[in-house]
Amino acid sequence: MGGVALNDARSGQTPVSDGAPVLETVRLTLRPLRFDDLDMVAPMLADTEALKLWGAPLDREGSRRWIERNRQRYEVDGFGRSAVILRETGDLVGDCGLIRTLVEDRPEVELGWIIRRSWWGQGIATEAGEAWREYAFTVLGLDRIVSMISEDNLASRRVAEKLGMTAEREAVWGEAPMLMYSMNRSS
Ligand SMILES: CC(C)(COP(=O)(O)OP(=O)(O)OC[C@H]1O[C@@H](n2cnc3c(N)ncnc32)[C@H](O)[C@@H]1OP(=O)(O)O)[C@@H](O)C(=O)NCCC(=O)NCCS
Repeated sequence: MGGVALNDARSGQTPVSDGAPVLETVRLTLRPLRFDDLDMVAPMLADTEALKLWGAPLDREGSRRWIERNRQRYEVDGFGRSAVILRETGDLVGDCGLIRTLVEDRPEVELGWIIRRSWWGQGIATEAGEAWREYAFTVLGLDRIVSMISEDNLASRRVAEKLGMTAEREAVWGEAPMLMYSMNRSS
């Protein structure tokens, strides 16, 4: 399957760090976010131009809270969004992972991705998303995952489609109208 080389997820041997899994793909290591990632996370989440179809950019304190929120998710849920590290260079090139959320009062697990602009178009979001999709269905045993994407965000919609997700319906999420992409374990 694509670029996925999910260490030992199927045998239940996925390494865990800081309460969350560490996943490996052909090019990437997906590992828990740490506070010392802030110098790399903050410019990514402050990139107004790159994030215009995602939402309001975050200042440095907002990025620190982003890391903090995900570290809280690791404690509570055992997973959250992770740092996307390109192993060859050691660069933090993005952020991708699963979060528990409510979509119009219904509990869902959402798979999301942000890649630093200089790394766009190299299949990184898809490769990271594939690893999390496999983790969601194979290790967590979830029945379904969703991705909440604004209609105009064609690159993100394409990533969802490459992962095998389909547009299910429009839904409000975080007060914004979104397209809800979804995928079931058996699909
Ligand atoms: C969306 C995002 C994560 C994609 O990251 P990426 O690593 O470049 O994604 P990939 O290379 O795996 O795949 C991108 C796909 O979108 C396609 N694409 C890019 N721009 C596109 C556009 N304007 N219209 C249609 N397709 C587009 C690419 O051609 C590629 O598809 P292909 O492999 O069939 O050629 C990245 O653009 C990003 O971080 N954007 C800002 C944050 C964001 O919007 N996150 C998603 C929130 S829902």
